[in-house]
Amino acid sequence: MMRPADVTEGRAEIRAFDELDELFASAADHLVVTAEQAVEERGEFRIALSGGSTPEGLYRRLAVAPDRDRVPWDRTQVFWGDERWVPHDDPDSNFRMAWECFLGDVPIPEDNVHRVPTGLPDPQRTAERYEDTLRAVFSLPAEGLPRFDLVLLGVGEDGHVASLFPGDPALYERRRLVVAVRAPERPGMLPHARVTMTLEVFNAARDVMVLAAGESKAEAVGRALEEPSDLPASQVLPRAGGLLWLLDRAAAARLPEELQ
Ligand code: 6PG
Repeated sequence: MMRPADVTEGRAEIRAFDELDELFASAADHLVVTAEQAVEERGEFRIALSGGSTPEGLYRRLAVAPDRDRVPWDRTQVFWGDERWVPHDDPDSNFRMAWECFLGDVPIPEDNVHRVPTGLPDPQRTAERYEDTLRAVFSLPAEGLPRFDLVLLGVGEDGHVASLFPGDPALYERRRLVVAVRAPERPGMLPHARVTMTLEVFNAARDVMVLAAGESKAEAVGRALEEPSDLPASQVLPRAGGLLWLLDRAAAARLPEELQ
């Protein structure tokens, strides 16, 4: 059974797979093992989900046996690392994607699913309310940081993670846990207002798992994992937690041979 990856000298544990099915099976196993361990040690499993399309293959595995029956759903608290500021039934909603892939099909208590309140009048108030929810569920003191058992992230072609985009001031936010941002106007990028957790939250996690697949991600993955850079993806380095990158061969193509 795999255990959360160990970060050695700020480097991630990297696994590259020939087949996407293998990647998602490894991701599901890592998630389940992390969940079982968290519940055993602390009575709860707190996860921040990623949006985007890459995690769909992982999420769909969680809706069916055996993974569905291994996750302690009644002891699981689900958050989103970021969300597009759209209604929950909008096709671009990260909540909707996760709900349709697995959350609507597993026995998780409704109160344990903490969707981003995008129905509030503006993204700023949504971010503030979501931060309040984080603080409440984690019983945080004033300056406290939530320590997720697992944070799931994808990577954009520009090296963004969650909705932390290259050069955005949100990357340097050290006080707030959740901020409102706007996705850059770029071909293929959804032009939505967004709400995102900050690097401080991601790097406080016990474990971070990054999923990336496809040739379009190879450059961002190569830069993020090869050298310290200003790419958001290269700044995800849990201070006291595991960091696991799961890649397909195409996304790993720019990495040195030994890392592939
Ligand atoms: C989002 C995600 C975002 C995503 C990357 C990769 O809300 O879109 O949080 O960070 O993980 O853009 O997206 P794909 O998996 O669709 O390539």
